Amino acid sequence: MEFKRLFEPITIKSVEIKNRIVMPSMGLLYSSDFVFNDRYKAFYRERAKGGVGLMTIGPVSVDRVGSVPIMPGLHDDSFVEPLQRFVEELHRETDVKLAVQLLQMGRYTFSFLTGMTPIAPSALPSKITGETPREMTRDDIEEVKEAYAQAARRAKEAGFDLIEILACTGYLISQFLSPVTNRRTDEYGGTIENRMRFGLEVIGKVRETVGDDMAVGVRIAGNDFMEGGNTNKESALFASEAEKAGIDAINVTGGWHETNVPQLTSNVPPGGFVYLARGIKNEVSIPVFASNRLGDPVVAEKALRSGACDMICWGRPLITDPDLPRKVRDGRLSEIIPCISCNQGCFDAIFSATPVSCILNPRAGNEAIYSVKRVESPKKIMVAGGGPAGMEFAIIAAERGHRVTLYEKESSLGGQINLAKMPPGKREFQKIIDSMKARMEKWGVRVVLGTALTREIVAEQSPDALVVASGARPMNLDVPGVDKPHVIDAWDVLSEKAWKIGRDVVVVGGSATGCETAYFIASMDIPDPDIYSFIMFHTAEDPKFATSLLRTTSRQVTVIDMVPRLAANVGRTSRWSLTKSLKLLGIDLRPSTKLIEIRDDSVLVETAKGEETIPADTVVMAVGASSINDFAGNLKEIGCDVITIGDAKEPRKITEAVREGFEEALKI
Ligand SMILES: Cc1cc2nc3c(=O)[nH]c(=O)nc-3n(C[C@H](O)[C@H](O)[C@H](O)COP(=O)(O)OP(=O)(O)OC[C@H]3O[C@@H](n4cnc5c(N)ncnc54)[C@H](O)[C@@H]3O)c2cc1C
Ligand SMILES: Cc1cc2nc3c(=O)[nH]c(=O)nc-3n(C[C@H](O)[C@H](O)[C@H](O)COP(=O)(O)O)c2cc1C
Repeated sequence: MEFKRLFEPITIKSVEIKNRIVMPSMGLLYSSDFVFNDRYKAFYRERAKGGVGLMTIGPVSVDRVGSVPIMPGLHDDSFVEPLQRFVEELHRETDVKLAVQLLQMGRYTFSFLTGMTPIAPSALPSKITGETPREMTRDDIEEVKEAYAQAARRAKEAGFDLIEILACTGYLISQFLSPVTNRRTDEYGGTIENRMRFGLEVIGKVRETVGDDMAVGVRIAGNDFMEGGNTNKESALFASEAEKAGIDAINVTGGWHETNVPQLTSNVPPGGFVYLARGIKNEVSIPVFASNRLGDPVVAEKALRSGACDMICWGRPLITDPDLPRKVRDGRLSEIIPCISCNQGCFDAIFSATPVSCILNPRAGNEAIYSVKRVESPKKIMVAGGGPAGMEFAIIAAERGHRVTLYEKESSLGGQINLAKMPPGKREFQKIIDSMKARMEKWGVRVVLGTALTREIVAEQSPDALVVASGARPMNLDVPGVDKPHVIDAWDVLSEKAWKIGRDVVVVGGSATGCETAYFIASMDIPDPDIYSFIMFHTAEDPKFATSLLRTTSRQVTVIDMVPRLAANVGRTSRWSLTKSLKLLGIDLRPSTKLIEIRDDSVLVETAKGEETIPADTVVMAVGASSINDFAGNLKEIGCDVITIGDAKEPRKITEAVREGFEEALKI
């Protein structure tokens, strides 16, 4: 596909943007004192150089009560100059256009970070913070409006091309918009007209302060996805009123942080929320941006061609690959490092108040620390294992000029990612394998498939270094009955080697692998999206019955674990969505349940209430992994350096596998 629409210029107000790609605002948490420091600069500079058309810096603070020091500040004049210098530099060095997002968090503000009680339209407790804000007085309302206006003035002074007002995701302006969080009885609450008043007054005041020539946008939720909250209909009304109040562009994202509809996880279909932008576009005449899960350039191009939006947002895809726009423009699609929406390095980081990174791009947030430099004396290196650790090492070492040969004992690359990609919603993990394979090819890594690297081969080849990236194998439990024929391993289920799975399935082990394997098994007889869509389009079945098909499995699947919390090793922003899906499918999740014995037709377990049997014609073991390192201790006499990385060192996650591969390849 040619990416004609993606690279078509567009003008917002009088800001000429070279393409249709927006990097939306993303809190990065690189500061602890509102300072726009070098870490931020290095992050943004790299993305500006990567070819994005409109890059949003921020969110930045508008005042002290609704902002936290882990974001760059703009609530005081002292913050203007450093931003101004940076904006000037980027304008000089690149042709990127720069937006800044203004944020007041309202009831999502943590008081321990501000030292103040948060303010909100109504004094209703926040699920996110566990705190109850103070209801805003009329004076508060005036003060916050003024704070927005002053922050916008500073943004204009700093030289930004566009100011974006955040009115989505459950932050202050959306708290006013929504009947769920706005219970006021004055002219700021009640009807939709009243609930829109605060947001529209903020827009009006900003416009009045920055003048008619400055481009101002607003980011809205296409649908709050909150019970009793605003839908696409109310959002479209707000968008249309915002246009009348002087807004020049509308960025349409999904729902609130509190929603129970997944917004950012890999189970959200690519382009899944473009329809929300379409609902807004029909009601306004200014440019509309679509957002969320549009990182696949084909999906993005199609969204633009469909007419549903005028620009598309690439958030996490640009954390993972800052050069994504250039690579797409130049037709170098195979070189893209793909965002798989795992959230492990980025969105999960936000919720544990740690700096944003990326599992597939160790340079994200570390741009100033890591650089990939060519070596003067290339080495001969052998790698044992074609999982993410071995492949990442091979790519970076070869890029630096080393001569690398990678051995994989299986007939295909990927290691455990071939299992990780199998449960519903994780299909895109395959992209990690495809991308690493293509990049190994680009840098000339020699790949030998179907051959286990042995001590003998190493001795014969006599490399300068051997990288042991041989991963892990599943462990088993020592319990009576574990050798029975109906006991199978989760890895065999996911690799589809185990083909006979009965009706009463007990999965032993409730960490990510156990829970995801249970999900995989329970989904085996669920109609796939095309079938569901066919049934719905033709109303072949009653819509209620058709929907029930998506949630009804003919198997009874139970997950047991002795720990008190299942899926504990799944990141916070994905865990709730996984456990919700398991529950919707009727999977019985049983924490604090210890396996005692496996019998022919059941398992005997121990719980706080005593012993119990659970019917089981199939028992799936998912009880952890142990490292494979066949080279440990027997290579000394060969005389080459031995570097062990990834799960071969200790079973963990892709994050560590890739980071260790990357770091070791920089050192050698
Ligand atoms: C079901 C499942 C789901 C997972 N989900 C996630 C997730 O969502 N997020 C996440 O971060 N992590 C996840 N993980 C963990 C992640 O996949 C592993 O941590 C990661 O793959 C480890 O990478 P590695 O390269 O060290 O080892 P591996 O991926 O195990 O790769 C090692 C490779 O070495 C090969 N090999 C072994 N010995 C030799 C030899 N002598 N010569 C040549 N080749 C050899 C093996 O065949 C294998 O292909 C999941 C794991 C599983 C099993
Ligand atoms: C780490 C992180 C922080 C984010 N912070 C903000 C924010 O402060 N303001 C905002 O409007 N959106 C924020 N978002 C949402 C993104 O702008 C974007 O809508 C989302 O990542 C979906 O797009 P993507 O699939 O292209 O990543 C954040 C997303 C991430 C991953």
